[in-house]
Amino acid sequence: MTQNPQTLHVVDHPLVQHKLTLMRSKTASTNSFRRLLTEVSTLMAYEVTRDVPTQLVEIETPLESMRAPMIDGKKLVLVSILRAGGGILDGVLNVIPGARVGHIGLYRDPDTLEAVEYYFKMPSEVAERDVILVDPMLATGNSIIAAVNRMKELKPRSIKFLCILAAPEGVAALQKAHPDVHIYTAAVDRGLDDHGYIRPGLGDAGDRIFGTK
Ligand code: URA
Repeated sequence: MTQNPQTLHVVDHPLVQHKLTLMRSKTASTNSFRRLLTEVSTLMAYEVTRDVPTQLVEIETPLESMRAPMIDGKKLVLVSILRAGGGILDGVLNVIPGARVGHIGLYRDPDTLEAVEYYFKMPSEVAERDVILVDPMLATGNSIIAAVNRMKELKPRSIKFLCILAAPEGVAALQKAHPDVHIYTAAVDRGLDDHGYIRPGLGDAGDRIFGTK
């Protein structure tokens, strides 16, 4: 299992790590799990957008005019992988409210663990924009690889992937299939179990966000 550290960014900020630990605990309620996921995602948005271009715009401070840097949020497309991606989406939109948003619906075939697409809705212009795909868990990598394959058909300028937890197997698989996609995660755990769960992990992210079982 080879990992390329150049495209793997583990966000080890103490606030992110603290909140991730609270999320992992089985005693976290649905309510607090959801709130923590939003908070962690907002913090991680800081890292994932570190290199987005800014442009100087003319403004008036109360004292004088100046040219000051701004991000054009409309150039960013956030793509949430249903259903668990919504938790991260909310957190990123807190700080980039102007971003365009797309959704991809994929489910994991429980027998083959392969990704099957059932929904795909994107903003009109993805070509030449920067895409950030979001899904809390990078497990086998099958879903995210399928999502990146699909997004590349639309010719975006770049694609990044933002998750909360990753398995080494998923990181290796995504990097092998798409070496150009940078991965941002709060932790890389020990590995996958026989059911495709990340260990020690945090359980099923969708179930924990929505209180389903
Ligand atoms: N998806 C999850 O929600 N949890 C895992 O551990 C693996 C995939």
